[in-house]
Order: sequence, then structure tokens, then C-alpha cells
Amino acid sequence: MSSLFLKALRCEEVLRPPVWLMRQAGRYMPEYRKLRAHHSFRELVGTPALAAEITRLPIDHFGFDAAILFSDILVLAEVFGYRIDFSDGKGIQLVPPSQEENHPVEGTLSYVADAVRLLKKDLPVPLIGFCGGPYTVAKYMKTLTPIWLDRITTATIAYLQMQVAAGVDAIQIFDSWAGLLEPSDFREWALPYLKTIVDALRPTGIPLIVFCRGSCRYVQELVSLQPTALGFDREKEMVHLRKEVPSNIAIQGNLSPTILKGPLPLLQKEVDALLTAMQGIPGFIFNLGHGVEPDTPVENVRWLVKQVKSLTIK
Ligand code: CP3
Repeated sequence: MSSLFLKALRCEEVLRPPVWLMRQAGRYMPEYRKLRAHHSFRELVGTPALAAEITRLPIDHFGFDAAILFSDILVLAEVFGYRIDFSDGKGIQLVPPSQEENHPVEGTLSYVADAVRLLKKDLPVPLIGFCGGPYTVAKYMKTLTPIWLDRITTATIAYLQMQVAAGVDAIQIFDSWAGLLEPSDFREWALPYLKTIVDALRPTGIPLIVFCRGSCRYVQELVSLQPTALGFDREKEMVHLRKEVPSNIAIQGNLSPTILKGPLPLLQKEVDALLTAMQGIPGFIFNLGHGVEPDTPVENVRWLVKQVKSLTIK
């Protein structure tokens, strides 16, 4: 598939940057909230037709250049017998089994592959599959030990290979919490496991994006992974990050999710500044520094996509 998003990932010249947003399919959309009123989060994630429908919502409504599969990084814990509990009001919780369990990835998470296959029939844009970084997943499982990090890494590789076989066009690894570690801890608890995953997926040729919160503190460590792209949050300007990251690695980010909420004149100013600073620079994918927040006005998202799409590099 040739598309703006895949071209930008390869750092090829494009007429404008592609745009998609982390958490683009979610609670800020009334259509999502309507579905959610009738189903639990786990039901939505675990029913391929519903997961596919939600994945498509922001594509059909706003015209993003890429879709991200509607799922969650925490479904991987089901391989180890954990149950996702998202009863309203309690936030998301992982309930461990009474004894250690280790199930085959393919069978346990086949609903994810089914959703991918359904989407790939007629999705007009590339589909991004994803997983959590082992450190972040282990933190939610409350199993932060080297043995568990190895187990989670092994399961994650099988999980991503399953997504690739089902047809995803790119993968993003969300190691949301790893970027907040102190440097020596980051090198010990996060980086080696990310490296194992990136190296294991490299032979498939699938483009891989690595995202951490606080990623700007670990630019050189993340570059050492040699991913296809790095996702950045808000601490540094993209134009400076572009100079720190070798030109064969694409960069993705980093409008503030708070700014996206408005007011519109401020949003316009920030978006124009980012687009102007990055104009004509290859290997740039427009995104937020973190996920879309639930109280973001739909109109602002619509305006943003239109604005990025209206830009054509001469
Ligand atoms: O980006 C997308 O639109 C694709 C789907 C997606 C979700 N979660 C759906 C979701 C993705 C890529 C994620 C990643 C994820 N999940 C991360 C990494 C990115 C990040 O935000 O840092 C993490 C840490 C999680 C774990 C998780 N899932 C938490 C802590 C929560 C509860 C808090 C919250 O943000 O809502 C979730 C629930 C969740 N995952 C929702 C959605 C749409 C909200 C569900 C609802 O309230 O209906």
C-alpha cells in the first residue's frame, strides 16, 4: 500500500505531512459514547465487528491519514490469565488469576487478528496495530521483575507477529511510563526489552514507531533501537528533535492535547507554528504529544485535520 503515512514513515518526500492522533477513536466522539452506553469496554475491544466499527469512526468522520486499531495495550495480560476490569468509576484494573497461567497468544487474542482482517477488507487508509512496552505492561500487571519482563516481551513479539500476519500496515509500541524512569533505570528496565521486540520484528519489514512519554529525555537511547519512527511528546520542539534524530528515522508528534481543546485561535496559532516549522522537512508525521482527551471538542479535531490537509508544500 502506498500512502502519505507510509511514505512519511520511509522519510520520502511528501506534499504535506500525514496526520493521525493517538486515541483518535474514543470518548470525545459521541458515536463512541453511544456504543459504550450499551457495551463494556472489554466487550467493544473483544467483538471484532464493534472494534472495527470504532476504528473506522474517526476515519469516516474526519479523514485522518491512518487508522489505529481500537483495542488496548492491556489485553496482552489475558495471555497470563489476567482479567480486564473496567467497571465504571474504578478506572482500568487488571485482576490476576489465582495461579500463574500462560496461554497461547494466537488463541487468546484471536479477536484482535479478526478485527484487523475485517478492517483490511475496505479500510481506505493504512492500519496501525500496537502493543505496550514491556515495562509499561508489567507496571499495570504489578509484575516488575526481569523474569516477567522477559515473559511479556516474548508474548508481545508473538502478538505483534499475529497482527502483522493479519494485515496491519505499521506498528506502534506505547511504552507510556518508561520515559518517566531515571536514565539508568530506563536503560535497565525498558530499553533492552524494546530492543528485543524491534529486532524480532525487523525481518517482517513492518514499519515500527516507538513512543514513550518523556521520550525527549532519551532521544539517543531510542535512536539506538533503529526503529522506523519515534513518537515524541511535548518537552521539545519537533524542529529541534529533527536535528537530533538521524534523517532516516521519521518523527511523530507533538501538538499539546490541551491546546487541541481550544480556544480555536490558540489552536490555530500552535498548529500553524508547528506546520510552518516542519514545512518541507521529510519524515514528519503530525500527531499529538499524548492521546486526545475525552473533553476535546469534535469541531477542533475536524478543523485540525482540514488544516493539515490544506497545506501543500510547493
Ligand atoms: O489510540 C486509539 O484510539 C486506539 C486505542 C487505544 C486505547 N488505549 C483505547 C482505550 C490505545 C492505543 C490505547 C493505549 C493505552 N492503553 C496506553 C498507552 C497510551 C497512553 O495513553 O499512555 C495505556 C497506558 C493504556 C491503558 C489504559 N486503557 C488505561 C490506563 C485506561 C483508563 C484510562 C483512560 O485513559 O481511559 C484505558 C482505557 C481505554 N483505552 C479507553 C480507550 C478508548 C477508554 C475507554 C472508555 O472509557 O470507554
